[in-house]
Amino acid sequence: MPKRQKAGQQSDRAPRERVRVLITGGRIQKRIQALAQEIRKDFPGEPLHLVSVLKGGVFFLTDLARNIPGEVSFDFIAVSSYGQKTHSSGQVRLTRDLDSSIEGKTVIVVEDILDTGMTLHYLLRLFQQRKPKHLRVAVLLDKPERRIAAVHADYIGFSIPNEFVVGYGLDYAERYRNLPYVGVLLLGPGLKKKPAED
Ligand code: IMP
Ligand code: MG
Repeated sequence: MPKRQKAGQQSDRAPRERVRVLITGGRIQKRIQALAQEIRKDFPGEPLHLVSVLKGGVFFLTDLARNIPGEVSFDFIAVSSYGQKTHSSGQVRLTRDLDSSIEGKTVIVVEDILDTGMTLHYLLRLFQQRKPKHLRVAVLLDKPERRIAAVHADYIGFSIPNEFVVGYGLDYAERYRNLPYVGVLLLGPGLKKKPAED
């Protein structure tokens, strides 16, 4: 502990959190343009229904939707986990359902990050029962090292190492979602990386 500091003074000003840029906003936008083209090429002339998971997937959805030519509609779903402390390893529960039926539609599920895969595993099972014409998955980020559930993403923005990231929709206690880039969250007086499983 630093001796010079008076109790409660300097430490208040010392940075407790910092974000180290991992993927710049420019790279994100370029990659999303390419993904949007790829999606449209796979389903030429078909109306596409984008379904995003609140809240983290919203930035990705809006940028993706703006870059896909032709007919695009979208809807939102929200989930939360219970039974465990950490979001990612908890069981998934639906907290807000879609507004409209997806039966017969070409559905692209749009998620911010594929981590353990529990969330998407749950959602894909749910959506499959509703008989869409096609069901595909687009994720901006993929952390393959953390996978528990066998989930396949059809469109992946970036594969990233096992680090806790924030920005571009991703939060830490609801903060940092508004950053235009994705960064690694560093915590504490020594600014250590936040463990991914917290
Ligand atoms: P999964 O169910 O473990 O795949 O978790 C997916 C969800 O966990 C994401 O939609 C995020 O809300 C959250 N999540 C996973 N990894 C991170 C991260 O590095 N930063 C912020 N949120 C994360
Ligand atoms: Mg999420």
